[in-house]
Amino acid sequence: NGASPGKVDYVFKVVLIGDSAVGKSQLLARFTRDEFSMDSKATIGVEFQTRTLVIDEKSIKAQIWDTAGQERYRAVTSAYYRGAVGAMLVYDITKRESFDHIPRWLEELRAHADKNIVIILIGNKSDLEDQRSVPMEDAKEFAEKEELFFLETSALNSTNVENSFNTLLTEIF
Ligand code: GTP
Ligand code: MG
Repeated sequence: NGASPGKVDYVFKVVLIGDSAVGKSQLLARFTRDEFSMDSKATIGVEFQTRTLVIDEKSIKAQIWDTAGQERYRAVTSAYYRGAVGAMLVYDITKRESFDHIPRWLEELRAHADKNIVIILIGNKSDLEDQRSVPMEDAKEFAEKEELFFLETSALNSTNVENSFNTLLTEIF
């Protein structure tokens, strides 16, 4: 692949945001460790994980930050967004409320992050199609209006997890 071992050409900070229990931490676990847990605990404060991948023969270290969806456990907002070049705005396709809150998350993101930040809207838990409460069309329409990328993912069965991070990182790059 052209990249030398151990050499990192770029470090990209990506932040995960969205309501509690939409699956942010499990998307991160799937992407960085290929792991998934059904009894994932609510995140307290802030954590990050990294994964290095190669795009266009350059070695890119993705440093992915994860915080609590619950207000009382959240990290300091300005520090969380500082230096972020990408963001994943996550809702749960089975929880309408988590989609209805997306405009608020987007507002916070736009207030604190760099104006050139690349944003992808993620409808997670696509494996629960029988419990869907957010039509894909609604999300697509919103994403187009707000000029966001959009994908539905499943951290459980891995659908589109690689694809979503790759979309974001390739666009940043
Ligand atoms: P906070 O840390 O509180 O903000 O929540 P979070 O967004 O990090 O959610 P978390 O990743 O902890 O997942 C919440 C619950 O949803 C856990 O029980 C997960 O196992 C489950 N979950 C996450 N992703 C998926 C998915 O793609 N499909 C299904 N069926 N369940 C999922
Ligand atoms: Mg979490």
